[in-house]
Amino acid sequence: RQQRDRATVDGWRYRISWKPVSETPAATLSGTWLVVVPASGVADTFAESVSAALQRHGADVVRLVADETDLAPGSLAERVREMATEPSGIGGVLSLLGVDERPCTEHPVVSRGLALTLMLVRALAEADIQARLWCATRGAVSVGRSDQLTSAVQAEIWGLGRVAALEHPRIWGGLVDLPETLDERAAARLAWALSAGDGEDQVAVRGSGAYARRLTRVTVGNESAERVWRPRGSVLITGGTGALGAQVARWAVREGAEHVVLTSRRGPSADGVSELTAELEALGAEVTVAACDAADRDALAEVLAAVPERYPLTAVVHAAGILDDGVLDGLTVDQLAGTLAAKAEGARHLHELTAELSLDAFVLFSSFAGAIGGAGQAAYAAANAYLDALAQRRRAQGLAATAVAW
Ligand SMILES: NC(=O)c1ccc[n+]([C@@H]2O[C@H](COP(=O)([O-])OP(=O)(O)OC[C@H]3O[C@@H](n4cnc5c(N)ncnc54)[C@H](OP(=O)(O)O)[C@@H]3O)[C@@H](O)[C@H]2O)c1
Repeated sequence: RQQRDRATVDGWRYRISWKPVSETPAATLSGTWLVVVPASGVADTFAESVSAALQRHGADVVRLVADETDLAPGSLAERVREMATEPSGIGGVLSLLGVDERPCTEHPVVSRGLALTLMLVRALAEADIQARLWCATRGAVSVGRSDQLTSAVQAEIWGLGRVAALEHPRIWGGLVDLPETLDERAAARLAWALSAGDGEDQVAVRGSGAYARRLTRVTVGNESAERVWRPRGSVLITGGTGALGAQVARWAVREGAEHVVLTSRRGPSADGVSELTAELEALGAEVTVAACDAADRDALAEVLAAVPERYPLTAVVHAAGILDDGVLDGLTVDQLAGTLAAKAEGARHLHELTAELSLDAFVLFSSFAGAIGGAGQAAYAAANAYLDALAQRRRAQGLAATAVAW
């Protein structure tokens, strides 16, 4: 049976890997490149080095500075249209907006970078610009063990970008993650990426080379697991009254958890809670059901503080989430905020509030849409890309973390 289970799991598992791209001759860019930068100086030095890199490789550069006033529908489209009157036309668009991690004033769970990137995609489609959009980030991906993923927030740009690629293939260029310092070689690699070198559209530029993102199969084979998780003590399951959360609760109790804490916004008034509680109690566990919005840090802290000493918290499963799908052309920052709140903000709070505990498991219910994209799911993809990145960051810090992207 064990062998059959392994074979089944082998058929399901993939991982993201980064393939070194062989060094290519210097690429030349042509025409005018629109470099879109965030206001207030957050990326000034970066913008200067990126602009200089583009110029050295043949591009004329014009800069478009975007701020929160450009979140108004139509604002960026109008500004882009004005700039497209450049005599040489627009050769390409490189957005550095993603590096602006500051919260939006109206929707603090959304970074200004993500909100403005959404507006930029919409603007380019609306303005009917015949040029491709590349979105740059810094530290949003890790190409290997010695390469730190430093920004889970910027990983959201990758989630949204993969959906833009599906919904707007005509204007989509790609995603490029850049190092802190753009030396000569990194600049050449950036120019190569922007000239769509080898057709790669998800690229990381590093001191050691350029890397292209790949989805590769992972086989467990006969290897034994790095560590085996046997639920014990208390297990917190956010979204624990939902479809998958309830299944996880049943599994955790059957496998040994003595106490499960199930949270959701409706908590005890969610459908089927009394039946679920009775079922779990019949299996021998104590059950706490709490109404707690995962995005509400204080409420989550209260839930954690109420975990009884006799059953210390040993694991967290973050299964809270909502879907609020819509194509990018009509997607609002409000929709981004709603989707990010439960998943990304909830995960961040759980991570911060439990960082001092030595948890056996910290499981994030992510999604295939975050890893690969899905038309109409930009908000959901951004939120799940955050979860995947957070899990990577935690692992790098030696903390338990598993993001299941299904
Ligand atoms: N089902 C799938 O096929 C699938 C595939 C890939 C990934 N996932 C992920 O797996 C997770 C569970 O999915 P599911 O199918 O079980 O969905 P579900 O039945 O809708 O359950 C989601 C749960 O999350 C709770 N929730 C939503 N927003 C919350 C918030 N802000 N704070 C706390 N709780 C919140 C909901 O309850 P309230 O409304 O009462 O808050 C509900 O209990 C989700 O994160 C989803 O993205 C599911």
